[in-house]
Amino acid sequence: MSEVSSSPLLKIISSCISSSSDQQITFAQYMEMCLYYPEYGYYNSRAIAIGSQGDFFTSASISEDFGELLAKKIKQCWDDLGQPDNFQVVEMGAGEGVLAKIILDYLMQKYPQLNDNLTYLIIEKSQQLKEKQVKMLDDKQYKIKWKEWQDIKNESIVGCFISNELMDALAVHRVIKKNDSLQEIYVTMENGLLTEKYDQLSTLAIERYFQENNVDLTHELYPENYYTEVNLNAVKIIENIGKKLQKGYVITIDYGYDAQKYYHPQRYQGTLKCYYQHRHHNNPYANVGIQDITSHVNFTSLEMAGQNVGLNKIEFLPQALFLMGLGLGDRLNALSNGKMSLNQIWRKRSQLHELINPQGLGGFGVLIQGKNV
Ligand SMILES: C[S@@+](CC[C@H](N)C(=O)[O-])C[C@H]1O[C@@H](n2cnc3c(N)ncnc32)[C@H](O)[C@@H]1O
Repeated sequence: MSEVSSSPLLKIISSCISSSSDQQITFAQYMEMCLYYPEYGYYNSRAIAIGSQGDFFTSASISEDFGELLAKKIKQCWDDLGQPDNFQVVEMGAGEGVLAKIILDYLMQKYPQLNDNLTYLIIEKSQQLKEKQVKMLDDKQYKIKWKEWQDIKNESIVGCFISNELMDALAVHRVIKKNDSLQEIYVTMENGLLTEKYDQLSTLAIERYFQENNVDLTHELYPENYYTEVNLNAVKIIENIGKKLQKGYVITIDYGYDAQKYYHPQRYQGTLKCYYQHRHHNNPYANVGIQDITSHVNFTSLEMAGQNVGLNKIEFLPQALFLMGLGLGDRLNALSNGKMSLNQIWRKRSQLHELINPQGLGGFGVLIQGKNV
């Protein structure tokens, strides 16, 4: 547990705890501050860097193939919608803007007609990353705009909402089974140290979430002290998409499972993980504001939330199959056409394999939902 030392963020968290009515904040509030507090939260600080130099990498930072294949999927969506002339792609949580750049460059080069009819919108929570995106994506060259949810009119989007590793980066509530009932994990201070405390659920939405997902953690199958996470922010994002989308698709790529696997009785310590300089560990109270904290995604909750707002599940498949279906296999075969040096072939082959490795990125889930399609 971390001590309130010279860290400005720890001081802020500590004063937030002491000014709250029960001298405690939910884990979700704590995680939100660690990740997104202006200037000091991990994603808003100078510490944030994605890729080989950062604390973690994503498919987008491995090679351009991921973004190009996703661009092909976007082209399919445009075709399926009858090639509308006001097609919008909304990327949520765009990191450093790498994926957006690859998609836009590819569409411009390969599908100029779609490119003429396309506007690319980014919804980004981190000011620090937004600045990096603006630098990466010159809006004179690209038809791109940055938006807040409230700037987008209801039922105005005809197109696609896409996200890669957004949902795993949202603050989650944590719950624990105690004496056959469900309690919530709160964060408090004891003797100057961040400490966990258990108390009643902070919101009825957690109960509703478990009912909708058909999961009962108080059942005897679940051991005492079983703890796990509840991602209500992911549900809110799907609800927002449901409001803004008039017609089109939602493509969510992330690591996670369906509810039955996620809340399996054997997964008794949840999925929360922290990343610091490419190493992972389980202590969210260490390296406050300078480490990433993530949890796996419960895809069933996205499906259920979607159904309530008119988004129907079209497909849920592993990233490996999703990319193979879009031509990743052809890209592997084409490596032997003799145009690259052996070194280049080796590098590209490793990158493509990494994107489909079932033990790694290839095992990520891709959920595709549709509204009025
Ligand atoms: C793990 S990074 C993934 C970045 C990028 N998509 C990639 O694949 O490299 C998560 C991103 O989601 C952003 N984010 C988190 N919560 C968000 C929210 N509610 N709305 C929009 N962006 C959000 C973060 O600031 C960050 O840009």
